[in-house]
Amino acid sequence: MITKPKGTIDVTGNDSLLWDYVNSVVATMMSAYNYEYIRTPIFEASELFHRSVGSSSDIVKKETYDFQDKGERHITLRPEGTAGVVRSYIENKLYAEPDVKKYFYNGTMYRYERPQKGRLREFTQFGVEVLGSNDPIIDAEVISLQYRILEALHIENLQININSLGDSESRENYREALVSYLKPHLDKVCPDCQERFKTNPLRILDCKVDKDSEVIKNAPKTVDYLNKESKERFETVLKYLRFLDIDYEVNPNIVRGLDYYDHTVFEIVSLDNEETKANVLGGGGRYNKLIKELDGPESYGIGFACGIDRIIDVLKDIDLYKDVKKEIECYVMYVSEEEKLYALDIVQNLRLNGIVTETNNLNKSLKGQFKEADRLSAKYLIILNNEDLKKGLVNVKDNRTKEEEKVDIAELTEYIIGNL
Ligand code: HAM
Repeated sequence: MITKPKGTIDVTGNDSLLWDYVNSVVATMMSAYNYEYIRTPIFEASELFHRSVGSSSDIVKKETYDFQDKGERHITLRPEGTAGVVRSYIENKLYAEPDVKKYFYNGTMYRYERPQKGRLREFTQFGVEVLGSNDPIIDAEVISLQYRILEALHIENLQININSLGDSESRENYREALVSYLKPHLDKVCPDCQERFKTNPLRILDCKVDKDSEVIKNAPKTVDYLNKESKERFETVLKYLRFLDIDYEVNPNIVRGLDYYDHTVFEIVSLDNEETKANVLGGGGRYNKLIKELDGPESYGIGFACGIDRIIDVLKDIDLYKDVKKEIECYVMYVSEEEKLYALDIVQNLRLNGIVTETNNLNKSLKGQFKEADRLSAKYLIILNNEDLKKGLVNVKDNRTKEEEKVDIAELTEYIIGNL
């Protein structure tokens, strides 16, 4: 038997209902906030991720799926969505258009991680990227949109952790302070962090191994190193969030695992799940340098991404299945070949009028069809027999009250819609 690759999932049965539900809530919310759907390739030139996510990040160093294609190009399966959207913005000169560009996406990402709960090798993110505005109103919109989508999905006990890395000057000042603070304590951090000290010291702050150590707890905080503009900017973002009624926690240890961030960074955590990295349902931040670094013009960007696999885990825990379960509204029953021909037409008509309809697809006896209709919890049974059909009638049985009535075929759709 061939089995699925490690760290991947099949979505079937009840889980598919939850996936459908998440996708439709996301699409509705994105539309109300006026975000345009963008689709970029699942694979890109490897260089794109080296120059955006960063060569020293864990993702690029250890977790990408890389290969050479038959034309000997270096290709990487996308580990995240931001780099591809920014590449598209530059390549298609979307920056030349006058408005702020607001994009959303929903697709699979690939990271070669050690699989565990909430951590897969193929996973799905929905996310947004807003390009072309540095106004803090956009920071507040993006953070609140992420929160409001999770709220619309009925997820409770969420916490937004927010921080600011500031502009380049602030970041550099902070980096220097952090490096001189950490130097004498290097023997007290894990081997990975000793390596990070050389390549990307900020990442030491969100190390899973060292997170509770005194060294990390007493480390200097980014917010204390923000220059005046960066500090004011951050305070404005927080003020706008308060006006949107969004609660937040300023958390100096949020530095994020990707190198492209500056200014606002944030994560959204489910407090109902145990304290693991897998309870981080989403994260994001501003990346005002990235567009230029990828050979685009001077511009601005901010976005977030949420992991749908992790969201589904939370929805399973709150037992949302019953609320999203699809109901069969009509089950059309027949026995003879002649009745079957009527059934084909009646079933199609009901379906085209938006009525969820099923029929006998296994040549079952009438008794077998009643059983199947019950199993599917069908609301109405449409029972066809030759005699009535000749008079243009069908029997409609309300499967809850068990009342039965003859209805003109021409009026069937209206009858069902009127009674549902
Ligand atoms: P990220 O924090 O790497 O950010 O991922 C965002 C979310 O994707 C995580 O919070 C988590 O829910 C989910 N996720 C990440 N890795 C896995 C995994 N191995 N298995 C399951 N779920 C996972 C980004 O990807 C940035 N591109 C977000 C962003 C957009 N920043 C600016 N714009």
